Amino acid sequence: MLEVEDLRVTYGGAVEALRGVTLAVPDGKVVAVLGSNGAGKTTLLRAVSSVLRLHRGRVESGSVTFDGKSLLGKDPSQVVDLGLVQVPEGRRIFSRLTVEENLRAGGMGARDKSAKKAAQQRVYDLFPVLAERRTGRAGLLSGGEQQMLAIGRALMAAPKVLLLDEPSLGLAPRIIGQIGEIIHEINRQGTSVLLVEQNATMALEVADLAYVLDVGEVSLQGDAKELAATDEVQKLYLGHGSDADEVHAVVSTGKTLSRWTA
Ligand SMILES: Nc1ncnc2c1ncn2[C@@H]1O[C@H](COP(=O)(O)OP(=O)(O)OP(=O)(O)O)[C@@H](O)[C@H]1O
Ligand SMILES: [Mg+2]
Repeated sequence: MLEVEDLRVTYGGAVEALRGVTLAVPDGKVVAVLGSNGAGKTTLLRAVSSVLRLHRGRVESGSVTFDGKSLLGKDPSQVVDLGLVQVPEGRRIFSRLTVEENLRAGGMGARDKSAKKAAQQRVYDLFPVLAERRTGRAGLLSGGEQQMLAIGRALMAAPKVLLLDEPSLGLAPRIIGQIGEIIHEINRQGTSVLLVEQNATMALEVADLAYVLDVGEVSLQGDAKELAATDEVQKLYLGHGSDADEVHAVVSTGKTLSRWTA
């Protein structure tokens, strides 16, 4: 279980991005963290992945533990070795490399060849479109396909906990629905997920538990479906626009993965 307790994070010693955040990702669950721009969602993932230093950020107090072991002060690669792998915001893939080269880059830390092969097969089974395009340049993939590649690359490290930073960003509602389905499937295969999102419709659809982050503090938390029904979340995050309804329709029908080949 991943546990964050009373976490305070600052940037450049001044900006207080997280102010006493406590949350948990129990094994086998999908946990969503909702929040608008600047709420501290990315900061939370950076703290877990131990990359705050690269952004002039610092943990002032509190703790981040995985299965009881502290992640604070670890090298980012040690956090990956422990099984926590982040898909960064803006899906930073290597656009000049092929799809397969991108995946190989994600499997660099894997212990042996057969584990790597199995991880790659898992990715190609989840995303048939990546298998089809394996020798093609990653930069030529559509936005949705690039997001799939970014997720696939993280899966190459066989994570116990997958950390996703706004995977829906900039994608059409139909594609967001597909991303939601794939998160559900990855979780079904045994990987816990910490999903940070502004798109509450998709996130609450796939999550078991959810937290709302409001300017660095948790303002609401609970069962994802119960939270989705509250007035506050309805009003602030689930405007009943056509986009939201469309994502809901795609995620909740839970259609088969065959559509990924389209
Ligand atoms: N490298 C940095 N240096 C200084 N301040 C930063 C840095 N990164 C983030 N911040 C500030 O920390 C706060 C939280 O930012 P963060 O990026 O975690 O929010 P977010 O919820 O991920 O927002 P978004 O939805 O826009 O991605 C904001 O006030 C932001 O301006
Ligand atoms: Mg962010």
